[in-house]
Amino acid sequence: MRIDVISAVPKILISPLGESIIKRAQNKGLAEIHLHDLKDYAAGKYRHVDDKPFGGGAGMVLKPEPVFKCLDKLLFERRYDEVIYLTPQGTKFNQRKANRLSMMKNIILLCGHYKGLDQRVIDKYVTHEVSIGDYVLTGGETAAMVVIDAVIRLIPGVLGDSESALTDSFQTEAGFDAPVYTRPAVYEGMEVPKVLVNGNHKDIEKWRAEEGTKKYRRVKRVKRKT
Ligand code: 6GU
Repeated sequence: MRIDVISAVPKILISPLGESIIKRAQNKGLAEIHLHDLKDYAAGKYRHVDDKPFGGGAGMVLKPEPVFKCLDKLLFERRYDEVIYLTPQGTKFNQRKANRLSMMKNIILLCGHYKGLDQRVIDKYVTHEVSIGDYVLTGGETAAMVVIDAVIRLIPGVLGDSESALTDSFQTEAGFDAPVYTRPAVYEGMEVPKVLVNGNHKDIEKWRAEEGTKKYRRVKRVKRKT
């Protein structure tokens, strides 16, 4: 899968993309991430990528020209499945969307910054507007990183244990993962549940299912019994 990220501050993404599983996925050739700096597409001595909003108001707006230029270049080079604008006013990102995106070949993530993005960019190019939650970030870069992380780990071959994405919390109808423990069996007087230490496989499975459901209900405040 190829992901192109367009941003006024792509540097924000360099460090998180260069670590751990996301790094490994790229090294294995399972994911290709390309960062595009809007300043490289901006005109003039100062390469301004933003300007004051027409009609007044606080904040700056990303100018259309650099974004048009960058998108035209990419769209000329290959076909993209989706052009996603990251904005708090988008539809909420979730595991289902991550699953869907993980099956795509090429996507563009367009990061808003400052007050927003000239509407003409959205009208002409954007296929989906996505938010990662009901709060406001300084820019779409951290949101793009969240989307990239959630999507890349679902690409077959990225996770070492091919089973592990399938048993994720949210991936199963049963709800959450059960609590997990590792050695030592007693730490600062706190014991690991006996069933995990002594129990047989069947008991452990049963305990995990129950605990996962309990945690799900507690966190989601579900009252109904299933
Ligand atoms: Cl995608 N962008 C920004 N700037 N803030 C957000 C967001 C995105 N999702 C939630 N808050």
